[in-house]
Amino acid sequence: MQILNGQEVSLQIKNELKEKVNRLIDQGKRAPHLSAILVGSDGGSQTYVHSKVKTTKEIGFTSTLIHLEENTTEAKLIDQIERFNTDPQIDGILVQLPLPKHISGENVILSINPFKDVDGFHPVSVGKMVQGLPTFLPATPHGIMLLLQHYKINTNGMDAIVIGRSNIVGRPMSILLSSNANPGNCTVTICHSHTKNLPDICRQADLIVAARGKPGFLKGDMVKEGAIVIDVGITRVNDPSSKKGYILKGDVDFGSVAPKCSFITPVPGGVGPMTIAALMMNTFRACVENSSY
Ligand code: GUN
Repeated sequence: MQILNGQEVSLQIKNELKEKVNRLIDQGKRAPHLSAILVGSDGGSQTYVHSKVKTTKEIGFTSTLIHLEENTTEAKLIDQIERFNTDPQIDGILVQLPLPKHISGENVILSINPFKDVDGFHPVSVGKMVQGLPTFLPATPHGIMLLLQHYKINTNGMDAIVIGRSNIVGRPMSILLSSNANPGNCTVTICHSHTKNLPDICRQADLIVAARGKPGFLKGDMVKEGAIVIDVGITRVNDPSSKKGYILKGDVDFGSVAPKCSFITPVPGGVGPMTIAALMMNTFRACVENSSY
């Protein structure tokens, strides 16, 4: 069993980006700029946005973080996005999801300039991804593909299952795993809340991507010997003995699953850091492809 070390691989990607930023600066150009918007006070979202912004600083990007109140109107949020859309100093726009219930996530995503859509959530980006055209890929599935690529894992012909059908992870993951590429070329099954007999489907899979948000649900007896297991879960679970009062738990019961795997991602230190690295790659790309300098 080998651990897929997202912490280590993401560090390598970030160091490469840092060097590329230095080269831009040496050429008299400006650093890439990411603008992030956070609405409301969800603890998880705050943590994620802050670590994205912190990473921009570490690698020499510049960034803006706008924090809007929970009761902000959709119109006000879209106004802010439109200001970012037309600002030539801003390369990438990120609106942290989920949004409060009174705001339509669809309208908000549609209002983002696709050339600045570094999350890859705009229908233009999604359409290009589905057709295999160059575009911004959603950060979590993209990060997972980069991790498989880094470890030179040959996924050709594998039976893969993706548990979860969100627009952020499950759906784009299924597209990338089934695409004509390596990693890719998998036969993909998407499982969700209406799937019958999930354990049986899991037991047949060569590759499992667990993105259900249910801590520890994937147990050793649901995994075939030699399978590759990618854990996207990061649920906060109360733990009075820890400093923060909670710990992050993946969807995978690591203790029983890991001994059966050929490769497995840990939580933390697996998919999470790769998501941030992939977002930074998208922002760098937005900068060099669109910038008006
Ligand atoms: N919420 C959970 N994952 C993501 C992500 O990758 N991007 C954004 N914007 N929101 C998220």
